[in-house]
Amino acid sequence: MNLAEVVLEKGFLDYNIDPTVDIYVAIEELKKEKNAVILAHYYQDSDIQDIADYIGDSLGLARKAAQTEADIIVFAGVHFMAETAKILNPTKKVLIPDLNAGCSLSDSCPPPLFRIFRERHPEHLVISYINCSAGIKALSDIICTSSNARAIVDSLPEDQKIIFAPDKNLGAYINKVTGRNMVLWNGACMVHEIFSLEKITKLKVRHPEAKLIAHPECEEAILAIADFIGSTSELLKYTHTCKSDSFIVATESGILHKMIEQSPNKTFIAAPPDNACACNECPHMKKNTLEKIYNCLKYEQPEIIMDEELRLAAKKPIDRMMEISISAGLVG
Ligand code: 13P
Ligand code: SF4
Repeated sequence: MNLAEVVLEKGFLDYNIDPTVDIYVAIEELKKEKNAVILAHYYQDSDIQDIADYIGDSLGLARKAAQTEADIIVFAGVHFMAETAKILNPTKKVLIPDLNAGCSLSDSCPPPLFRIFRERHPEHLVISYINCSAGIKALSDIICTSSNARAIVDSLPEDQKIIFAPDKNLGAYINKVTGRNMVLWNGACMVHEIFSLEKITKLKVRHPEAKLIAHPECEEAILAIADFIGSTSELLKYTHTCKSDSFIVATESGILHKMIEQSPNKTFIAAPPDNACACNECPHMKKNTLEKIYNCLKYEQPEIIMDEELRLAAKKPIDRMMEISISAGLVG
């Protein structure tokens, strides 16, 4: 199979890499040679976080992708994130190590169905969480991330009718803290929905000193017993600045790498899911590997290609998000 056929069939390049090659050094060399930058989400494996030029949450990554001067962006995250990078910086070549790195939340909101839903609420403004496809972004008025969702909702007049998509848990949480009554699309993240209330309650009993911190994509029952709720970067900041020494962390376990790095003397316990595993990993995020990153940099495939009309329509609500975030002082 040639390169294009492999990408088409498998979604990534699985060419064997000489085992005597130091993959960390080889990636560094390819980055320099090609003027490439690696952007990684906090949910990536720790070895990927260690080779990344920038690690961030969805808002930080979108900003970095928009600003970079590099010729190539390798996006170590999931498809909607790489797509967002292409929407914001179309002259750059945007690569994703594995095209199959999707997102259950994004998949829970197909554009044809959402179009009908939106048409049923003609007076409503649509706020969509960035964890959605370009097709959904193009059907939205404003995009938000978990870092700025509250500020975006608060920036709108109180009587403004709003649809919030696709995450019902984040939407319900924002309804609660803002006193709004947004109409919610019935989507959810498979990772944040699967935390076990029973196991977390037992952990809290065993570690009464530990603070339970949770991402707002978690279900209401988990958020109700949390000591702190925040986006990935807000959770990280909290563990570093808060006086407590131990934390039960209810979000994807990849973030523990940075938490431990920033606060090596504190204790972090990954909140357990409702299955046989001790921690909770996103299978989509974890599709990326150092080998796939190496091959993707070397052969410049798989690449994110986007229709220009769709890109422009999807960019408008992201630009609105950036404007509101800047005026709310959330980004500098
Ligand atoms: P944030 O990075 O915005 O916190 O989102 C979490 C997430 O689920 C990313 O896929
Ligand atoms: Fe999607 Fe959830 Fe994975 Fe984030 S953690 S990429 S929202 S499935």
